[in-house]
Amino acid sequence: QVEQSLRPSTLAQYIGQNESKKNLSIFIEAAKMREESLDHVLLYGPPGLGKTTMASIIANEMNVQFRTTSGPAIERAGDLAAILSSLEIGDVLFIDEIHRLPRSVEEILYPAMEDFFLDIVIGEGSSARSVRLDLPPFTLVGATTRAGLLSAPLRDRFGILNRLEFYNMEDLSQIIRRTADIFEIEIDAEAAGEIASRSRGTPRIANRLLKRVRDIAQVQEEAQISYETTKRALKMLQVDQHGLDHIDHKYLLGIIDKFGGGPVGLDTISATIGEESQTIEDVYEPFLLQEGFIQRTPRGRVATMKSYEHLNREVNNS
Ligand code: ADE
Repeated sequence: QVEQSLRPSTLAQYIGQNESKKNLSIFIEAAKMREESLDHVLLYGPPGLGKTTMASIIANEMNVQFRTTSGPAIERAGDLAAILSSLEIGDVLFIDEIHRLPRSVEEILYPAMEDFFLDIVIGEGSSARSVRLDLPPFTLVGATTRAGLLSAPLRDRFGILNRLEFYNMEDLSQIIRRTADIFEIEIDAEAAGEIASRSRGTPRIANRLLKRVRDIAQVQEEAQISYETTKRALKMLQVDQHGLDHIDHKYLLGIIDKFGGGPVGLDTISATIGEESQTIEDVYEPFLLQEGFIQRTPRGRVATMKSYEHLNREVNNS
């Protein structure tokens, strides 16, 4: 249950994502003043940046129930109809990985989102008939790694589009200190900064690294997590100075050593290093792109000078 309380429950407790918070707080306040449900919200961005947390905060700030499901969990139209028909006025329904909803399910979502009703077909063959079921007004909060993965009709039905960004060092340090407080452990400021700088701009990674560093400090009976212990722990965890891990290295070295630095297509890299294309694109590449380790060109991915230098590889201009 400590795990659960790691998530902030109000916008005021949520660190970072200032743009998103500012916008959402206005839309939430306005909806409450009008005593209406909040318009549907699409949250998108790389994994671990707080989409689920943000969704639960929206429900909390609106004083409504938070119901959650995910795209892959809803296989048939009836599954979604069951969930929708159990909603109460104003509820937030969170659908994670909403881009993975089957198309047949997506179609019953359109009238539900737009006019709060469901068309369900009862019976089969010549006796089949369509029944209209009214729904209470509700707020759909969808989460996806990239807005572009959604079909246009679904994307267009969200009134509020919110992109979550990678966190800066100060925000990550603050999150690490907050988590340390919740764990009731002491941590040096430099140690928190070191974890922050190796967390790929991602709170989920920062909190995971903090837990492992805590384990190591604990078995050494260290009262306060020191910078030295943190460095040693991060080395054991194979996280380098930029926060790149084993798979990032395999990816970059694949491009450099096997394809002369690129350009090389995503599917080719995927086959070479044995990681799913979609995982590479959603989980690994966004941070490598943002930090300038790779570039995307029309002909494929290219490793930059920064990658060569970081991985101690000579540029080979043959
Ligand atoms: N824990 C994880 N992400 C957080 C955030 N953005 N703010 C506060 N605590 C967090």
